[in-house]
Amino acid sequence: QFIVKANEVKATIQPTMWGIFFEDINFGADGGLYAELVKNRSFEFNMPMMGWKLVNDKEADASTLIINRQQANTVNPRFIRVSRNNTAGTVQLINEGFKGMGIKQNEQYNFSGNTLAEGTIHPTGNNWQLYKTNCIAAATEAKAVLSVAIEGKGSIDMDMISLFPEHTWKNRPGGLRADLVQLLADLHPGFLRFPGGCIVEGRDLATRYQWKKTIGDVNKRKLIINRWNTEFAHRPAPDYYQSFGLGFYEYFQLAEDLGASPLPILNCGMACQFNTAEVADMEQIDPYVQDALDLVEFANGDLTTKWGALRASLGHPAPFNLKMMGIGNEQWGPQFIERYRLFAKAIKSKYPTIQLINSVGPDPDGDKFTYLNDTLRKLQADVLDEHYYRSPSWFFSNAKRYDQYPRNGSKIFAGEYAAQSVVAVSPLNRNNWLCALSEAAFMTGLERNADVVSMASYAPLLAHTEGWQWTPDLIWFDNLHAYPTPNYYVQKLYGNNKGTQTVPITLNNEAVAGQDSLYASAAIDQTSHELIIKIVNAAGKAQQGNILLEGINKLDTKAQLTLLQNNNTEAVNSFDGIVNIAPQQQEMAIKDKTASLLLAPYSFAVIRIK
Ligand code: AHR
Repeated sequence: QFIVKANEVKATIQPTMWGIFFEDINFGADGGLYAELVKNRSFEFNMPMMGWKLVNDKEADASTLIINRQQANTVNPRFIRVSRNNTAGTVQLINEGFKGMGIKQNEQYNFSGNTLAEGTIHPTGNNWQLYKTNCIAAATEAKAVLSVAIEGKGSIDMDMISLFPEHTWKNRPGGLRADLVQLLADLHPGFLRFPGGCIVEGRDLATRYQWKKTIGDVNKRKLIINRWNTEFAHRPAPDYYQSFGLGFYEYFQLAEDLGASPLPILNCGMACQFNTAEVADMEQIDPYVQDALDLVEFANGDLTTKWGALRASLGHPAPFNLKMMGIGNEQWGPQFIERYRLFAKAIKSKYPTIQLINSVGPDPDGDKFTYLNDTLRKLQADVLDEHYYRSPSWFFSNAKRYDQYPRNGSKIFAGEYAAQSVVAVSPLNRNNWLCALSEAAFMTGLERNADVVSMASYAPLLAHTEGWQWTPDLIWFDNLHAYPTPNYYVQKLYGNNKGTQTVPITLNNEAVAGQDSLYASAAIDQTSHELIIKIVNAAGKAQQGNILLEGINKLDTKAQLTLLQNNNTEAVNSFDGIVNIAPQQQEMAIKDKTASLLLAPYSFAVIRIK
């Protein structure tokens, strides 16, 4: 029999406990969350015509030229000139989109482009102008293309050719895909970590993420190659770039929309060590540190400050309430420590309340991890960010991981984790039920240790079914749809059933962390006056669960049970309405201060009792 002592508060669960890790990997931003349908809209990919082609050009004797005006426009130097030598036929400039364009019947689509009209086509002068039009889609199509029809004789210069659905998240022009953001909102995340991941670091320092280049007019956001573009990814994607249409302002706005605390991660003067060992010279680290200081001002500064005023000019006079930021991602070695010291000193002396997050890397059993853990603790680092991409059995056995951690000093952020069905970093990994169940079990340990663990997030978050470089992922999508994985539902159940304080739940006087393949945690919610119990039965047989509820005077006779269950641990969800694992709700009776239920094989149960 389980015993819950509802009046023995153990630890406060941080409001940030269960959050989201966002990275532009697997076409998560461009081609995903960012609703732009045109690929390479500014002709700035390394191959400037990538994604584009000219058709019906023979009859009109038409041709294209990519013109580079580097000295006049360093950020967006290239544009396309389409020339026609006669008036016969209609020439089409076709954009293929990101794996096609998802177009929905009866939705409005807004087309725009910076166009310098010349010759016979609506000539309005020799200056760049923004032209806009829209149309209603007559049918739904997952693989549509955009065709820009050019008639008449002469030449036309075009740049920033763009197509957006009218209906985006909160109907913001140039905004985000509403269906995907809704799935994120449904998680009730406590924080939003952005923009990664390895893309923070870049393959080299030149392609690191620089937040100042991602705000303001989208025409002036300089596109770069995505870290997940080629040989460093498991599935190369040569057409993967970062347009930064989803930039830092939009990330802060998204965090606010989701009611999540923003958690930006900044480059610490080191490129991705899995790719190169490029580091910024210590003598030249100031601009990197300044970027961090300026970001705090951008997020929180009042209107008398340079960066606070800029935020206001972009449409958000109120502060974004930034409380924490990460310095570096998966960096290691003494080079990281010496850079971290500089950042910490500068940030803490100017903004003492900002919490700093520092990654201790992706190898929880390795020397680098131990070195960083020990060194950063000695330096009294605020929060250590641990990453683990491991087998389900690792997750089950690590439900006790934090029971032995020091109760004081640095807190833990489980910043990236996902159970791997095959082996870490394999394209064969699947989002199967065993992986999700092992994460649910592991998370009971995170919750039980809420005095040590202040935040946790699954990674990666999003993946396009035709354009991914990493699996498993929390949400899979195509151009029209998205489906939540079993792992998504585990995250959702935690995010929606958080509680405010942990209380003990025991089996034979011990924390429930693997005995008889059972895992459990319990919390009270002081706002809704409920007790919330989470139990994982990882055995292939049903087990009787009698939960004695101590320390509560008055109990409802009924409780709410939400269940994730499948007898097949290999089961997955997929498109086509195949949902093998999704929450089921039912009521359960409470009698004699006891909640009794038969814990189904391979199940995760969440019980809410008033
Ligand atoms: O989540 C995928 C990658 O895994 C992240 O970019 C990186 O931080 C980790 O190695």
